Amino acid sequence: MRNPASRIFLLAAIGLLSAASFSRDAETAAEVGAATCAGCHEKQAASLKSTAHGARLEKVKGVPFEKSCETCHGAGGAHAAGGDAAAIFNPGKAAGEKASETCLTCHSSDRNRMFWEGSAHAGKGNSCVSCHKVHGGNDLLLKKAAEKDVCFSCHPDVKADIAKRSKHPLRDFASKTGAGKMTCSSCHNAHGSRGEKLIAAKSINDKCYECHAEKQAPLLWEHAPVKEDCMTCHSAHGSSNNKLLTMKVPRLCQSCHIQGRHQSGTLAANSAYAVGRSCLNCHMMIHGSNHPSGTVLQR
Ligand code: HEC
Ligand code: HEC
Ligand code: HEC
Ligand code: HEC
Ligand code: HEC
Ligand code: HEC
Ligand code: HEC
Ligand code: HEC
Ligand code: HEC
Ligand code: HEC
Repeated sequence: MRNPASRIFLLAAIGLLSAASFSRDAETAAEVGAATCAGCHEKQAASLKSTAHGARLEKVKGVPFEKSCETCHGAGGAHAAGGDAAAIFNPGKAAGEKASETCLTCHSSDRNRMFWEGSAHAGKGNSCVSCHKVHGGNDLLLKKAAEKDVCFSCHPDVKADIAKRSKHPLRDFASKTGAGKMTCSSCHNAHGSRGEKLIAAKSINDKCYECHAEKQAPLLWEHAPVKEDCMTCHSAHGSSNNKLLTMKVPRLCQSCHIQGRHQSGTLAANSAYAVGRSCLNCHMMIHGSNHPSGTVLQR
């Protein structure tokens, strides 16, 4: 279809079909149906059939398979007449927002996508098809077999984090449906959230409490920064220090406690306050204490 003559023929064909535009919204373009598309695109028709879109479109949205191709690709009469790639809408090549629009005609009311608009992934040219592949995708139509590998293609720094000494057990689990079930979406909703950093909860602390409930339990003696933000002392993904700590103890503690008695100053290497677990030798209830005399978090 690269030579001028066939282009003229194609333009005539488009004219006959009075398809002024090939966009999916064009009301004037003629639809030809999946059977016609499948005549030239057997592979895509077969791959669609084998997924939720092939199996559930009619039941959930009342769109029979025969009409399915053109709900996403727009009326294909002009394209089917000659096979000109430029005469059909391909969400895989469209700019971010335009591609997502296609999907959101059906998916905007899904609970998980409630906060998509304005989310970090809705901007910068990204769209649903940055992570999903409609034809021949993996589990949940993801582009890669393991969810985290989808994320790592754009977030390599997080990949480095989960290889560190202390980390959440993310490395060993293959997918959302795999054993263990600890994946990126255990904490994030890639489709947007009301919390910051795409955290799938009201706040970061609320997310942590879902699995570390004992840190939220009502306490007699609280340690102020714990209630405020777990991230003050911990990294979420990985750390070279123990227990996902952002800094080593005692430096971590000394970043706030500058009272200047045993708490701060340069501690001699063999000082009782610096050896072993350092501050934690005595202040072991670092997240708070329920002991009547646990005022200084020592029991
Ligand atoms: C007469 C054969 C024929 C029919 C019928 C046909 N196509 Fe195509 N289609 C082609 C050819 C040829 C290409 C270009 C392939 C290439 O460039 O590699 C193509 C490309 C496409 C592309 C990719 C466009 C791009 O920009 O990458 C899409 C999407 C597509 N077709 C969808 C459809 C749909 C939907 C139907 C039914 C409405 C359909 N086709 C019917 C021959 C056909
Ligand atoms: C739910 C939306 C949707 C439906 C329904 C759909 N497609 Fe697609 N199609 C896409 C997207 C998105 C792409 C971009 C690549 C991808 O995600 O797999 C695409 C790409 C294509 C391509 C380009 C080649 C390729 O594989 O990238 C062809 C050809 C195609 N579709 C044909 C069809 C045919 C034929 C049907 C009907 C049997 C159909 N599509 C139904 C969304 C859809
Ligand atoms: C015509 C309506 C419609 C359009 C347009 C549409 N979808 Fe869907 N999609 C559905 C339905 C229906 C289901 C199945 C839902 C169910 O099982 O309840 C589904 C399921 C999915 C799933 C889950 C797959 C699984 O295995 O459970 C993903 C991911 C998805 N769609 C992505 C997309 C993307 C990306 C686009 C745009 C390229 C898109 N959809 C366009 C109707 C649509
Ligand atoms: C940054 C990557 C990414 C983007 C962008 C993305 N998704 Fe997803 N999607 C995922 C991941 C990961 C899952 C599986 C985990 C989950 O369910 O949240 C998923 C699951 C889904 C599911 C099935 C489970 C569910 O939540 O109902 C649907 C449907 C879906 N996505 C549709 C969409 C649509 C529509 C868009 C565009 C508005 C989109 N996705 C954009 C990564 C993404
Ligand atoms: C196609 C590239 C791409 C993919 C794939 C991708 N992201 Fe992103 N992500 C981005 C971009 C771009 C931003 C915005 C960065 C910025 O604003 O600096 C972002 C931001 C984020 C943020 C920070 C949000 C904020 O509010 O600051 C989180 C969390 C995130 N992504 C998680 C994920 C997860 C989890 C996955 C896999 C399911 C994923 N991303 C897959 C491109 C991607
Ligand atoms: C245990 C919960 C949890 C898991 C699991 C998790 N994250 Fe995060 N992620 C967070 C929190 C909390 C933040 C915010 C960190 C902060 O503000 O200091 C975050 C921030 C991010 C950011 C933004 C980085 C930045 O510096 O702003 C990206 C990107 C991201 N996560 C990607 C991922 C990817 C990819 C995975 C899977 C490999 C993943 N996350 C798994 C909790 C998690
Ligand atoms: C989906 C469940 C889940 C969520 C949400 C979660 N964690 Fe975890 N966390 C775990 C699991 C599982 C382990 C590993 C426990 C083990 O190895 O015994 C762990 C371990 C830890 C560890 C110890 C790491 C080590 O090296 O021993 C810290 C610290 C931690 N989590 C902090 C957090 C913080 C902070 C948040 C909120 C950003 C959070 N977790 C959210 C499940 C979760
Ligand atoms: C003031 C700093 C600080 C804050 C804030 C903090 N932690 Fe910790 N956390 C620590 C220290 C120090 C350790 C190591 C304790 C040890 O080795 O005995 C630790 C260890 C942990 C562990 C692993 C050992 C255990 O006790 O189960 C988890 C899980 C954990 N924290 C979760 C959280 C959660 C969830 C939050 C927010 C609600 C939080 N932390 C806030 C300092 C903090
Ligand atoms: C982000 C700052 C911050 C960090 C980091 C921090 N603390 Fe605290 N800590 C506080 C604040 C604020 C209080 C409450 C002080 C008050 O009520 O006067 C507190 C209270 C305490 C108390 C109880 C004192 C009292 O009078 O109630 C002890 C003990 C303590 N911290 C030990 C530690 C240790 C040990 C570490 C390191 C593992 C640490 N803190 C890390 C901010 C921090
Ligand atoms: C050998 C046990 C021990 C070690 C190690 C220790 N503390 Fe203490 N700490 C105590 C005792 C006992 C108290 C209460 C009596 C007092 O105030 O001296 C206390 C009190 C505190 C207080 C509250 C008192 C005040 O000044 O308001 C803070 C804060 C504190 N320690 C921080 C630290 C930090 C930071 C480290 C590590 C550099 C540390 N502690 C190491 C035993 C210890």
